[in-house]
Amino acid sequence: MERSDFLKKTFMAAGGLATGSSLNAKIQPSIKSFANSQDPDIPLDVLNIFDLERLAKERLPVLAYDYYRSGAWDETTLKANRESFEKLKIHYKILVDVEKRDLSTTIFGQHIDFPILVAPTAFHKLAHPDGELATGRAALKAKTIMTLSSLSTTTIEEVAEATNKTFWFQLYINKQREYTRDLVARAESAGAKALVVTVDTPLWGRRERDVRNGFHLPPGLSAINLVKYQQDGIAKGQTGAGLGQSFSWVLDATLQWKDLEWLATITKLPIIIKGVCRVDDAIKATEHGIKGILVSNHGGRQMDSAPATIDVLPAIVDAVGNHATVLMDGGIRRGTDAMKALAQGAKAVLVGRPVLWGLAAGGQQGVEKALSMLREELDLGMALSGCRNLKELNRSLLQG
Ligand code: GLV
Repeated sequence: MERSDFLKKTFMAAGGLATGSSLNAKIQPSIKSFANSQDPDIPLDVLNIFDLERLAKERLPVLAYDYYRSGAWDETTLKANRESFEKLKIHYKILVDVEKRDLSTTIFGQHIDFPILVAPTAFHKLAHPDGELATGRAALKAKTIMTLSSLSTTTIEEVAEATNKTFWFQLYINKQREYTRDLVARAESAGAKALVVTVDTPLWGRRERDVRNGFHLPPGLSAINLVKYQQDGIAKGQTGAGLGQSFSWVLDATLQWKDLEWLATITKLPIIIKGVCRVDDAIKATEHGIKGILVSNHGGRQMDSAPATIDVLPAIVDAVGNHATVLMDGGIRRGTDAMKALAQGAKAVLVGRPVLWGLAAGGQQGVEKALSMLREELDLGMALSGCRNLKELNRSLLQG
């Protein structure tokens, strides 16, 4: 479907995206520019993820751009994720033959071409009419893994097909455990290869831009995999909290470690918990048999003032040892950021916003562009640092 048709069916049908007329006035011009663009090629002067974000910003309605870019409250964690990467220096090695390089690795039995995965992010059809299908196809083409959000605007089965069943599925454990059981069974039978369970969301963090914009999904879009479980209507929950207003019913504020044990009884898939930022929690996870730990602060969208993920990663890696695979996300905008996380001991990293910027800027080709730029930067960074493969990326690079 072309963007203009898609938008007619979604944003325009609502007569705007926000409820207040002053907000409409602010948001409408951006909708127009989005509606008029027809997936033009990504311009040649887009050289990095920051350029891609600028392009995405031009092409997105304010409501969608703000939803994707926001952090919670003062956005200090959102900023810290970047600042901490910028502070870390790479003490490159010289005079190593780096002509041949290999970025590939195997993760939970899946071989991937490079250790940068697609993080789960919600509502891809807010960015582009092809939504999660475009993201999935791009991830497959890049030979990496897409993590599909529970809050996706495309069905699990369609994404399974688009990714040739290489995808992971992100889960919020719901108060109604039967709903969660059903959703997990569905993801498993569709071919998901791992479950990524988000554990930093007893409630939604408060993203004030979303509150100001009156964030909601425009008519025609829904969290399509969840609608059948929704009992109370969508406008119930934390008053005026943007996402929380419509989607608080997705979460369970009573969630505890024992619920992860329950989850393990209903699935054969490896369970990765997402949202870990403390050593004691990482240790508890391994004691509960969890095989994957995703060091994450939800892209700064949940507990503001939480530390940058790259800062807590090394201690978590050390504490967990070989009892679990440690992954990380948060603030990766350059291949060198991925390098730093890998050198600190992450098995792979995940990127959320860079993929959304690519998607908004140019659909599938935009996501391909985002992934290929990060991959090329990682490859070049490794070559310039005397590293031929991922095993050679270790802490000595960060310490000199
Ligand atoms: C969803 O996970 C969000 O952070 O908006």
